[in-house]
Amino acid sequence: MTKINMKGKNVVTTQELSVDEIRALLKLAAEMKGDRYADKWAELMKRQTFIMFFYNPSLRTRQSFEAAATELGGHAQFIEPKAMRLKGVKKGDLEVAGETIHDAAKVMDRYATGLGIRILETSVDNYGDGNQLLREYAKYTDIPVINMADDIYHPCQGLADMLGMQEHNNNQPTKGKTILQTWAKGALARSYCSVHESLLINSRMGVNVKLAFPDDAYELPKDIIEKAKRNAEEAGGTFEIIKGGDPKAAYENVDFVYSRNWFGKDFYEIGKAAEIERASSDKYKDWICDEEKMKTANPGCKFIHPMPVDEGAEVTREVNQGPRSIILDVAENRLHVQKAIMAMTIAGYEVEL
Ligand code: CP
Repeated sequence: MTKINMKGKNVVTTQELSVDEIRALLKLAAEMKGDRYADKWAELMKRQTFIMFFYNPSLRTRQSFEAAATELGGHAQFIEPKAMRLKGVKKGDLEVAGETIHDAAKVMDRYATGLGIRILETSVDNYGDGNQLLREYAKYTDIPVINMADDIYHPCQGLADMLGMQEHNNNQPTKGKTILQTWAKGALARSYCSVHESLLINSRMGVNVKLAFPDDAYELPKDIIEKAKRNAEEAGGTFEIIKGGDPKAAYENVDFVYSRNWFGKDFYEIGKAAEIERASSDKYKDWICDEEKMKTANPGCKFIHPMPVDEGAEVTREVNQGPRSIILDVAENRLHVQKAIMAMTIAGYEVEL
């Protein structure tokens, strides 16, 4: 038996947690889900505040963190930069001479016992700036900083995905199963963070990963691919890249399909309008998850997606709302994994493996 203690630990990406820490969080989240309103969880954050600092909007993240804090006996406070007087992050921001991150972080550190931050690509000028900002807050705080999705990573989503996949694998670890992470058409120019986190946590936990996308424009950042390849080698799994060709071919021998749009690698130069025009091109019309493609996958293959879903573009309604879809279980799991994260990092709850 090993006791896992994560008190005070920041959660920036699952890649920076140990495999045992990931296992401990998943184990605790499953236990909390099975016995949701038990007294043993009800006071872990009694009288404590978790600050949720949102540069970008959210449905699941805000609501699940708020519910999670309530269920642990604490409170989650919602704040946005526009309600403060912070120094701007992006060129053209009005408050160029506002309060520094150093001071804001040090003040939040005095009020709360945990700080969540969301900052996506549309709030920064360059790839990685959002992640850097989050790390700067973490540098000046003693309380744990939890990444609620930045422009690179989304650890809470990755953990919720993994818990959902386990649940739909007879509650067994998914090592040895295969996931297809496929680019999908769509006009939303969607973030990298959930896709990156899925590649990283799946490869880390020994799930075989197939990454499919139509052409050079939709290649993902090299450092993420290198990390995922290394993870797969260390975990004894496989990591395969399928560029171009018939999107249906990639569905062979897979147990989970994660079909989601992501923006092109030149997004930060060309901007959202140009990205949307390109992704809407007719040449990508077959890049949608549908029942016909799912039939070429393994029997019982499930559809997974972090939501919000671009139904009709990323996936058909038949698959998205049909028996293969596990999206709502995964969305619910956001609540349970975030309770586990707060219990372990803020309350110091220990998990035995
Ligand atoms: N999946 C996810 O993070 O959803 P929200 O953007 O609605 O929080």
